[in-house]
Amino acid sequence: MKREHWGSRIGLVLAVAGNAVGLGNFLRFPVQAAKHGGGAFMIPYFFAFLLLGIPLMWVEWTVGRFGGAKGHGTTPGMFDEMWKHPVSKYIGSIGVLLPLMIGIYYVYVMTWSLGYAIYSLFGKMNFSAFAQAKEFFNGYIGVAQNSYFHNIIPAYIFYLVGFALTVWVIMRGVSGGIEKLAKIAMPTLFIFAILLVVRVLTIGTPDPVHHPSWNINNGLGFMWNPRFDTLLDGSTWLAAAGQIFFTLSLGIGAIQCYASYVKEHEDIALAGLTTASTNEFAEVILGGTIAIPAAYAFFGPEISKIAGTFDLGFKTLPLVFAKIPLGNIFSALWFLLLFFAGITSSVALAQPPVAFLEDEFGLDRKKASLIVGIILFVFSQPVIFFLSHGFLDEIDWWMGTFGLAFFATLEIFIFNFAFGTKRGWEELHKGAQIKVPGIFYYIIRYITPLFLTFIFLYWALTDGKAKLLMEGVSATDRPYIILARVIILLFLVAGIVLVKIAWDRKQRGKEVDL
Ligand code: PHE
Repeated sequence: MKREHWGSRIGLVLAVAGNAVGLGNFLRFPVQAAKHGGGAFMIPYFFAFLLLGIPLMWVEWTVGRFGGAKGHGTTPGMFDEMWKHPVSKYIGSIGVLLPLMIGIYYVYVMTWSLGYAIYSLFGKMNFSAFAQAKEFFNGYIGVAQNSYFHNIIPAYIFYLVGFALTVWVIMRGVSGGIEKLAKIAMPTLFIFAILLVVRVLTIGTPDPVHHPSWNINNGLGFMWNPRFDTLLDGSTWLAAAGQIFFTLSLGIGAIQCYASYVKEHEDIALAGLTTASTNEFAEVILGGTIAIPAAYAFFGPEISKIAGTFDLGFKTLPLVFAKIPLGNIFSALWFLLLFFAGITSSVALAQPPVAFLEDEFGLDRKKASLIVGIILFVFSQPVIFFLSHGFLDEIDWWMGTFGLAFFATLEIFIFNFAFGTKRGWEELHKGAQIKVPGIFYYIIRYITPLFLTFIFLYWALTDGKAKLLMEGVSATDRPYIILARVIILLFLVAGIVLVKIAWDRKQRGKEVDL
């Protein structure tokens, strides 16, 4: 079967940027940065970017184009081509499992921003205290009934709309759906972000009488004044590395999948660099300038106490917007920005399972998209309805944090030691106009694998152990956590079985050919 390709170079760049630039840039990053003291976070963050992010980005583009040329859009087939060992395709199945499982909650969260954009526009979010913003949020997601919401129905309707859009886009295909979406969503996103940045930078000092030091300059200082002592703090490193994986879509199977649709001589060294730098611009410059400095100007250094991933974006910022002129409009811009960032990433999470069914089972795109749509829909239900019981967090930790480091570790070892760093390096430079600095050869071969192994083991032994033993989980939440794990295991086994069936079928197909 003939594989699809991206329609144009600019389309490819926008689509992959859409993949990487997501809720992680605008919701997760500012919270991680605020939690770790702003400037204290940025140094480990840049190290993680240079030693993990950029090298893995190149590795994944190489793996993706190499596998794509052989007809595989996902890592089971890619790893199988790179390492002729029976186990490689099963390791690769994790690269289909992760996007699918992250997709079941990511799509839902993405749709909150759609709902919030509409409520902002209609002036329903003029909060005057944090408690109100919190109530609104809890009402919306259905964990409380209050004057804002009686039930979860509005959120569910927004979910259905966002979910249907996601499936519709992947059904239209790589260039006809994903690329077209990115061509509209990405420029719009950047325009909205720049408008918000300009607005935030002109906030000045909101309360000069009581809090003269709470101003935009100190907000920027909070973010950017470096603190070298944090280099000694292990947890900051872990948080920084985790953020780098998530935001760049690395260690998931998503970048490889998009890279599998490039033409044979596409300059992937340049494309990888472009992806990483566009994402960092969106994350650090745009994401970092909007949320933290604005929140600092209104709430001061207290923002370091922010605990949850959704607090800054869905509670603090609406409160900030409520205090500025034309706040409704800016609030709507902010949530639409999140929506555009989110939907281009949602399709990137849905595409690998679709590609797997197409490439390894020969299903057509419509059928494959429908099947993936049904799975996403069914398994989103517990995420939606058991949200307050830690169901989402459980899946997010195993799949969206630990899973990425685990999978990236296996991947970098296969790349270096089964495929061969030298062969990989040549593959990366095939058709490339730029030459990657030679030092990255050694980083990819030695530093990245060491760094990754360290992080993965550290996580496994610290947070992983606590998670596994359900430390701090209340008795009422336990059944839900166990359900989440059963679902993860079920998917894991299903992935392995499907890979086995697909390969057995191909084997038989070959025998028949003879
Ligand atoms: N990088 C995306 C974000 O920052 C998340 C994502 C991961 C999307 C993997 C697709 C694949 O939100």
